[in-house]
Amino acid sequence: MKILLLGSGGREHALAWKIAQSEKVEKLFIAPGNAGTAAVATNVDLRATDFDAIAAFVLRESVDMVVVGPEDPLVRGIYDYFQERAELRRVAVIGPSAKGAELEGSKEFAKGFMMRHGIPTARYKSVTTATLDEGLAFLDTLAPPYVLKADGLCAGKGVLILPTLDEARRELRQMLDGMFGEASATVVIEEFLSGIECSVFVLTDGEHYKVLPVAKDYKRVGEGDTGLNTGGMGSVTPVPFADAAFMEKVRVRVIDPTIRGLKAEGIVYKGFIFLGLISVKGEPMVIEYNVRMGDPETESVMLRVRSDLVELLQGVATGRLDETTLVEDPRSAACVILVSGGYPEAYAKGFPISGLERAAATDSVLFHAGTALKDGQIVTNGGRVIAVCSYGDTKEEALARSYGVAEMIDFDKKYFRRDIGFDL
Ligand code: AMP
Ligand code: GLY
Repeated sequence: MKILLLGSGGREHALAWKIAQSEKVEKLFIAPGNAGTAAVATNVDLRATDFDAIAAFVLRESVDMVVVGPEDPLVRGIYDYFQERAELRRVAVIGPSAKGAELEGSKEFAKGFMMRHGIPTARYKSVTTATLDEGLAFLDTLAPPYVLKADGLCAGKGVLILPTLDEARRELRQMLDGMFGEASATVVIEEFLSGIECSVFVLTDGEHYKVLPVAKDYKRVGEGDTGLNTGGMGSVTPVPFADAAFMEKVRVRVIDPTIRGLKAEGIVYKGFIFLGLISVKGEPMVIEYNVRMGDPETESVMLRVRSDLVELLQGVATGRLDETTLVEDPRSAACVILVSGGYPEAYAKGFPISGLERAAATDSVLFHAGTALKDGQIVTNGGRVIAVCSYGDTKEEALARSYGVAEMIDFDKKYFRRDIGFDL
């Protein structure tokens, strides 16, 4: 079959790497991709949100399946776009309908969904300018720190955690006044949960589901989880505290009611569900839903999926996911992200990257996050540049391998965290 993957980051390179291993794939395109994806797929110069151009390409190339990497096209309704057009309906789109994508696109919707289906999550109140007083009163009932979330998509920047009530009150007003534009016209105020987080990925056809290897990501730029939030500095899988007993709770309390709830509400969902979970003294609570795979979790998770991913995706498309198998690799996998100095604030692009050939000759797997080809040379083209991923019998071994390879690769102002997995 012919597959078109949408996106351009490390997550998409990892998905492309895995998809390309399937014998079922005749041709894999990626739009727009990056310098690394060109090695496993054909890069196509299209924006992932330009549905008309994507549709024209799909028809021209007789693409059978579109796998959506990032949330943007999903929230904007790419699934529905294909469903609503007779000539595109035969194309399988892996991802939820626009209504399903609201689980990520609207924090208020996600919280309401969890309330309706009894899914454990932090206590909350959703407020707008018209109900500011109720919001301020709700803040009074909470203990510090205070969690404020812009309702809409903010490229990962819409969550503020404030240490004092004064700051929470002030920031709440500013958010409602347009700090994140329309996205913060509604703000979800939440009780702060204390615990350790993990990322659980579920693949569903709307009826059945499979749970992928559990991972943990490291979002802060600095060691010891300090400094600014980034798109992610590394990941490891498996996660020791997400053991069989914990995962059984996740299945019964979170995954089953989520799948049942989507169905009961008539929400079409054929794709990945990413549960951002926090273990509060061993009890799973949902911090957030995302409607796609995580980045940089995918980079380590794909190493641990032994089964043919395309077979699983076909199961999703046909509603027969129950007839497929998902076999996990028993080894650990770890991913270390090499970033451009300054990231996540201002950083430069276009630095030549050296050592990639030597690194590629090791047992580690390199996924490109932000790279481009310029005059025959691979150069940096983003804050997150390369994901160095490795297997190991233990997480320590996997990490040691990734760190060894991280040293082989060089570019101006290269930086990476040396403590990925420190808290597990
Ligand atoms: P999000 O953008 O929803 O992923 O939130 C960013 C981060 O904020 C999460 O990964 C958590 O570390 C933190 N966070 C969000 N909600 C809460 C909460 N209710 N309690 C504690 N931490 C939270
Ligand atoms: N790693 C978190 C995310 O992809 O949102």
